[in-house]
Amino acid sequence: MTAPLRVGLLGVGTVGQGVLRVLARNRQEIERRAGRPVVVTHAAARDADKPRDCDLSAVRFSTDAQAVVEADCDVVVELIGGIEPARRLVLDALARGRAVVCANKALIAQHGNEIFAAARKAGALFGFEAAVAGGIPIIKVLREGLAANRIDQVTGIINGTSNYILTQMAARGQAFAEALAEAQRLGYAEADPRFDVEGIDAAHKLAILAAIAFGMPLRFDAVATEGISGVAPQDIQLARELGYRIKPLALAKRIARAPEAAVELRVHPTLVPAEHLLAKTDGALNAVRVHGDAVGQTVYVGRGAGAEATASAVIADLIDVARWQGADPRHHVPALGFHPQALQHPRVASLDEIESAYYLRLRVADTPGVLRAITSILAELEISVEAILQKEPREHEDATLAIITSVVNERRCDQARSKMQSLPFVREPVTRLRVEHFDV
Ligand code: HSE
Repeated sequence: MTAPLRVGLLGVGTVGQGVLRVLARNRQEIERRAGRPVVVTHAAARDADKPRDCDLSAVRFSTDAQAVVEADCDVVVELIGGIEPARRLVLDALARGRAVVCANKALIAQHGNEIFAAARKAGALFGFEAAVAGGIPIIKVLREGLAANRIDQVTGIINGTSNYILTQMAARGQAFAEALAEAQRLGYAEADPRFDVEGIDAAHKLAILAAIAFGMPLRFDAVATEGISGVAPQDIQLARELGYRIKPLALAKRIARAPEAAVELRVHPTLVPAEHLLAKTDGALNAVRVHGDAVGQTVYVGRGAGAEATASAVIADLIDVARWQGADPRHHVPALGFHPQALQHPRVASLDEIESAYYLRLRVADTPGVLRAITSILAELEISVEAILQKEPREHEDATLAIITSVVNERRCDQARSKMQSLPFVREPVTRLRVEHFDV
């Protein structure tokens, strides 16, 4: 029998247990693909005595992660999360020539450039399919499946927790805090849920997707990030009446109009046309839309978190390790799909420069001339109105206006917003959300 691929597991939490269960359950199927058995021989976790839903009887188990890195394994799987000691352990494993499989999006987004260089130097494979969108094999799609294309846009719902919260608010009228607590209970949320609701987790993942889509270094520092906590139930309702759903989107776009190579990287709640697949991706599901010049639009939907969905991605990387071990490293697929010397360094545009359609919500006094004053401001700034909805006030109350604009420069939209804000009959801060339409 061919020697097994020996795996050292760092972290035996939800995903680690999922990996052990799926490896055991699909042992034959995995071996048929890998050409050899894939076996977890060593594992480390902080708490050795915690009850676990997997068979660890054949695993040398310890609380010492460093010992697993030093053990006689072919590949180290990093599932402990956070930056340190994960970074140190991954770099150490690579320096020893071990392949590494890693689900740690924060680590890759912030230190990926250093890690990829270390993997290259060692001639070792660094797999990170599980770091983005859980079970959706989006890394492989971008890096290999769509390799013929000039990819111009990647747009996705890549944080399940914030999608779950907005879905629950829309479908069940649940309050934000209640929906978040539920997402935590169901195990979708990060240890610090601010990473989810403030868009940081999605920004980590977007930095990774953009690097692979455009062949550029990781630029997590340049992702403009806005969370979902400013989305009011009223916005969800008005958006629906206007034919949209509000989704927590991450967007990476090449900007064709810029004279030099430039991209947009941003994460924010966004109005999406109700008929688009992204708008229909509800609950904790993830969806990623990729637009390439040859293929057009493709959309991938699936579970972005959870034990076995993430294990599915981890094990696919392990099978790659098994297939590639012993192969000439020059024939490995480069970590970002582009040869390192062919990476480009596009400028990342500031939000001031972006062009988008916008949703504006205003609470206004119920007096004559209000609509005219507001539309005049838009006309002065050459912003067209694509749709407008007026909610008649009940007795002695203010009215609500919701406007969808044409595609304009964000700075210009904000000028219009502040002019509206200074009108005497505009009552509250004007809400502004971005609206995204999609070409097929
Ligand atoms: N907290 C993440 C999410 C987990 O909600 O999508 C998966 O990366």
